[in-house]
Amino acid sequence: MKGFERKHLLSTEDLSKEEIMDIMNTARRFRDLMGKGHEVIPTMHGKIVVLMFFEPSTRTRSSFEIAAKRLGAETIDFSSIKSATTKGETLIDTAKNLEAMNPHAFVIRHSNSGAPYLLTKIQSIPVVNAGDGFHEHPTQALLDLMTIMDYKGEVSKLKVLIVGDIAHSRVARSNIYSLKTMGATVSVCGPATMLPPDIQKLGVRTYTDLKSALPEQDVVMMLRIQAERGGINNQFPTVREYSRHWGLNNNSVKLLKHDAIVMHPGPMNRGVEISQAVADSERSVILPQVTNGVAVRMAILHKVTNGKNIEEVI
Ligand code: CP
Repeated sequence: MKGFERKHLLSTEDLSKEEIMDIMNTARRFRDLMGKGHEVIPTMHGKIVVLMFFEPSTRTRSSFEIAAKRLGAETIDFSSIKSATTKGETLIDTAKNLEAMNPHAFVIRHSNSGAPYLLTKIQSIPVVNAGDGFHEHPTQALLDLMTIMDYKGEVSKLKVLIVGDIAHSRVARSNIYSLKTMGATVSVCGPATMLPPDIQKLGVRTYTDLKSALPEQDVVMMLRIQAERGGINNQFPTVREYSRHWGLNNNSVKLLKHDAIVMHPGPMNRGVEISQAVADSERSVILPQVTNGVAVRMAILHKVTNGKNIEEVI
């Protein structure tokens, strides 16, 4: 079967196991080389990546920039606040004008689900989805998968629980798709108001009681309440009550298996969905997730821009 040979990365929904494993293996190769002191692996030497962030970001934007630079590419930081978007220019006109300057890849984060798809229809440069509305965040799911494989090995034997604001979370959706493709048993947990009514159609089990869901899990992924997408409006009585019932804290964490790991895509709201102590505990793989983000984004940028053979440039 074929590896990842696509021009764009828009979603994990339609990625095959072979494509996902190709991305994992490429990311691991980049990580190994960086670990051996190769600070730049210039498969994208002379190329330009435009980072189009219409929403705030710390991890995703920075790691795409670092990934591009470690591949020898230059980055253009397109920030909607500093651009002609503030003067009324549309996304289509923005993209067509940027395309006219001949860059080699667009990385886009946008509040509208489908914005990266729109870009692929109106211009010819590779597009990578860095998060679109509450649709998908594919590179987050791929870096999460790499981290799970690092710590827990064979994914098909694992039980993974995603906890929190499932309804508004693009991270949950992308993780459900990739983890299911890799054969994991995936469950979601949260207040009933935060579980989409048709979520079981994605092949996941649903829980509203965190304490009954925790004991059998190998991986627990905690999510932030997506206030910017309506996640805080009348979904639960108070943040304090949310934290008591659906937060991972010193009491609830004791229900986990001794070797279960705790993940969070960030940004964390410490004291709400995850306690200070759990976030910084030995179970937490939150910072390794961030580290893997660079290698995974190197793999994606390398693949969509048809980078040179890795071995030829080191
Ligand atoms: N996980 C994630 O997307 O974080 P940022 O919003 O900081 O990019």
